[in-house]
Amino acid sequence: MIEEEVVEYYKFLYLRGHVSLLSGNISVRTDDCILITPTSAPKPLLTPRDLVCIDLRGNVVRGERRPSSEWRMHVAIYRARPDVNAVVHTHAVLPTILAERLKPGLLAESESYLGGGIAVVPPIKPGTWELAEAVAAALARDNVAVLKKHGVVAVGPALAEAVNRAEVLNDIALATLAEIWSGGP
Ligand code: 13P
Repeated sequence: MIEEEVVEYYKFLYLRGHVSLLSGNISVRTDDCILITPTSAPKPLLTPRDLVCIDLRGNVVRGERRPSSEWRMHVAIYRARPDVNAVVHTHAVLPTILAERLKPGLLAESESYLGGGIAVVPPIKPGTWELAEAVAAALARDNVAVLKKHGVVAVGPALAEAVNRAEVLNDIALATLAEIWSGGP
């Protein structure tokens, strides 16, 4: 069941340090709605019933909880990218700090999973249409974006690819830091 997949993948992200207890959000596009994590909840403890179904305007179609405060960002991406069926937003520290200093090419094999480059979005107030539109525009061609001073957004045709891209971006940040520390070129 897709709801179970969403809560399971969220636990992976939490256990790997991509999000803190209350931060981040995930959504998937289903046949009839966008299934998204609720706002301000301890997300690694969510059950399938806690997820909220919204339409592409943000109206709640099903569910008891309020959708993520970043629902605008999720729907803006789905509207702009018909090929995308999963959106993952993390607060991963290293890619966020390094942003445009992230070095592509260090992990060429892993980077092939990104299916594009790394977009960087300037600091914009969270939860706004301004941020939603900037992220959707940044992801017009790329599948991962760093939101400066905020976090990471990764998208894919399904959750596995989107989560994997968030992980690969973190690995690129680790590799970049290792190279800086070792005094590499
Ligand atoms: P929500 O709990 O509203 O999804 O917000 C968490 C977050 O990470 C905002 O950027």
